[in-house]
Amino acid sequence: MPATLVVGAQWGDEGKGKVIDLLTADADVVVRYQGGANAGHTVMVGEETYVLHLIPSGILYPGKTNVIGNGVVVDPARLVEEIDHFKGRGIDVERQLFVSDLAHVTFPYHKRLDEAREAKRGHDRIGTTHQGIGPTYSDKYGRVGIRVGDLGDEAGFVEKVRRNLEEKNAFFREYYHCPEMSEDEILGPYRAYWPRLKGLVCDTIPLLRDALKAGKRVLLEGAQGTLLDVDFGTYPYVSASHPTAGGASAGSGIPPRSIERVVGVVKAYTTRVGAGPLPTELPAEDAERLRIVGREYGATTGRPRRVGWFDAVAVRRAVDVNGLTEVAVTKLDILDHLDEVPVCVAYRHQGRELVDFPNRVELVEACEPVYRRLPGWKSETKGVRRWQDFPENAKGYIEALQTLIGVRVSIVSIGPRRNEIVRVGS
Ligand code: GDP
Ligand code: IMO
Ligand code: MG
Repeated sequence: MPATLVVGAQWGDEGKGKVIDLLTADADVVVRYQGGANAGHTVMVGEETYVLHLIPSGILYPGKTNVIGNGVVVDPARLVEEIDHFKGRGIDVERQLFVSDLAHVTFPYHKRLDEAREAKRGHDRIGTTHQGIGPTYSDKYGRVGIRVGDLGDEAGFVEKVRRNLEEKNAFFREYYHCPEMSEDEILGPYRAYWPRLKGLVCDTIPLLRDALKAGKRVLLEGAQGTLLDVDFGTYPYVSASHPTAGGASAGSGIPPRSIERVVGVVKAYTTRVGAGPLPTELPAEDAERLRIVGREYGATTGRPRRVGWFDAVAVRRAVDVNGLTEVAVTKLDILDHLDEVPVCVAYRHQGRELVDFPNRVELVEACEPVYRRLPGWKSETKGVRRWQDFPENAKGYIEALQTLIGVRVSIVSIGPRRNEIVRVGS
């Protein structure tokens, strides 16, 4: 059975959690393949709201298998905390969750380094989530990282921590002028995590191979979004991983050709948390209005999200690099009250129109959006359950997005709850 991938097609927070939750109903296994506790995926079931950071969103369905893949960076403190939180809410996490022994571990020195680097950058800071994501991936690619499987090898683990601390402390002491960290500070709590986690840790590659062979339906859950990809995003204002389709294979061990369906998730407008260009960003007052209606505050950090109109240039990049086979549009209901809805169809730079997203961040910053203004629908869409019952202008809006990005919209979400969804054409 081929796998399905759900990937963010903007700057993160597109509503991936909601779409994953919808698709999990028809899946057996849900796999996270990159990112870490920087993610915040919200799922509403009835009146209960769940925010998932490291654990795949499939955990909310009893009996489904959930996998934290090799490409994820795992902060064991956050993972244990999250497991306990969900257990406290009656979810049998430990029977449903597997963690790859190849996933890299985030340590407190990664978080301190994240904070110190950001402070040093001053005005040029990225606005990271301070979860140690960049430094953990740096160590992975620098071949000095410590993997989840290493936590169980006491002697080797102590030696690896010692070596890493020596280097990190030199940075803290000499360059960042912040407090050093002691071995005990790390080893004490980290020794306690292994007994909690060892029952979940395994080689997830054969697990996923066997699942696919047995005809199980596998759903890959992307975190962040295409424009935060370390290669394809607005570098350096990006995260440190590959949320994009290529990363799904590398971060899970599922072969690329097993992934047939690629669902891109977009908001009906655009948001971004942290620094970096957002070409369609609204002026402060208009942004505040949409932020309040759309409740645009970060699920991980609580920071207000920056808000802009839908940007077809940015989403077309996501179409290209992910090979999207379909798109889910979320939060259409947030635009219900508008007289007209601008959509960015191209960028203008020094009198020239650009239809492709520029690679250089300085060029993105220098671009002006070219807008097409679409008529609003001025009526509530929250209660709509069939495509044919949407107001004509709401249908027109979705059809315009579809034409601009060249991919079929299959799902429209009109509220945070499970049932607030319309399948296009139904
Ligand atoms: P993710 O990181 O992509 O999973 O998205 P987040 O959970 O960070 O942010 C999406 C927010 O929008 C959450 O608060 C969701 O509950 C909410 N949401 C998702 N879809 C809809 C929708 O169609 N309408 C409304 N009003 N809220 C939605
Ligand atoms: P989900 O999965 C939105 C942003 C941060 C910052 C940049 C780098 O919920 O969509 P990092 O801590 O990763 O080094 O920060 O990336 N960022 C996100 N923005 N949604 C996310 O995740 C994000 N994860 C990271 O705000 O600008
Ligand atoms: Mg989020």
